[in-house]
Amino acid sequence: MNMEIQKNVPLAEYTTLHIGGPAEYVTEVKDVPELRSAALWAKERGLPLTILGGGSNVFAADAGVRGLVARIAIAGREVVENGDEVLLTLGAGEVFDDAVLYAVSRGWWGLENLSCIPGSVGASPIQNIGAYGAEIQEVIAAVEAYDTERDETVTLLPAECAFGYRDSLFKHEAGKHYVITRVSYRLSKQPRPNLAYADVAAWDAERRARGSARGAPALADIRAAVCAIRAKKFPDWKRVGTAGSFFKNPVISPAHFERLRTRYPALVGYPTADGFVKVPLGWILDRILGLRGARAGVVGTYEGQALVLVNHGGARARELEIFADGIAQNVFDATSISIEREVTKFF
Ligand code: EPU
Repeated sequence: MNMEIQKNVPLAEYTTLHIGGPAEYVTEVKDVPELRSAALWAKERGLPLTILGGGSNVFAADAGVRGLVARIAIAGREVVENGDEVLLTLGAGEVFDDAVLYAVSRGWWGLENLSCIPGSVGASPIQNIGAYGAEIQEVIAAVEAYDTERDETVTLLPAECAFGYRDSLFKHEAGKHYVITRVSYRLSKQPRPNLAYADVAAWDAERRARGSARGAPALADIRAAVCAIRAKKFPDWKRVGTAGSFFKNPVISPAHFERLRTRYPALVGYPTADGFVKVPLGWILDRILGLRGARAGVVGTYEGQALVLVNHGGARARELEIFADGIAQNVFDATSISIEREVTKFF
């Protein structure tokens, strides 16, 4: 097999947190045959295969990662238009925000609230990425994957992807044998502004108050607004080591929420479709625990958003995890909530 494999590659260079020891082997795959070769190469040697996308939601253990890390660089863009509907299919290695920009520039609705999120197209269904009142599952038409167990390519429909809040089949044991190769988004030429999220609603209200616009906002304006909101809240991952939200917002029972409200009357909660309450962990970290901008050596929480952990330079996984575990313990002590990480750790 004609594969280029590098040995002992520091993974810190490949993650936006800039944290992680060396991968035993690293290769880059540009199409499905190359992915297949990589998977077979690892299988023949009894080595684990780890899939790396844009590296914006992961960090690696200090001891590094055993086996083969395959970086997905599968390119490609296909468009099928059918009346008002547009099916945009992209290679998993495409930059997600380039796809958003492309859709917005063509006047196709559906991705704009997810503007300026780092990462690759292939990661979008894994995390069921979400922001500003939208989740990618709302526009996913199909996910193509290479099945490393059966050695075949499959197409999964949304109902088969088990999407949940920052969750999908691909994050669980049952879906670990799928490597996403292409994703199809179903977009619309009909305007469908989604302005419900507080920050976006505030922008729209201000826009109207200024008298600069009477009707619904333009697609490009929504993208610009979302990017501006993000820029205020999140560090620039090109300059600061970060993976965005480090933890998920916890989902708790209504009874638990009411108990917390008696202690913290300003705590807000958002009902979920299945009768639970999602609470903003950033608020708890900031307003209850005073942890916004907290720091322990070279790791800390971002001063603009406490849910975002930051590597101020040269942090090791161990330091980050001690800090993160300390936060989790503080949250538990104050609220009896067990929080979960949103980022993935590679071993
Ligand atoms: N808040 C504070 N202090 C803080 C942080 C937040 O008071 O330090 C309050 C905010 O004022 C707001 C609430 O907490 O009332 C929620 O904050 P925000 O709107 O910033 O969103 P979030 O819940 O912290 C989630 C996603 C983000 C996504 C934003 C916007 C998760 C884990 N995170 O953050 O996604 O961009 O909403 O929709 O669900 C990511 O997944 O990496 C990510 C960045």
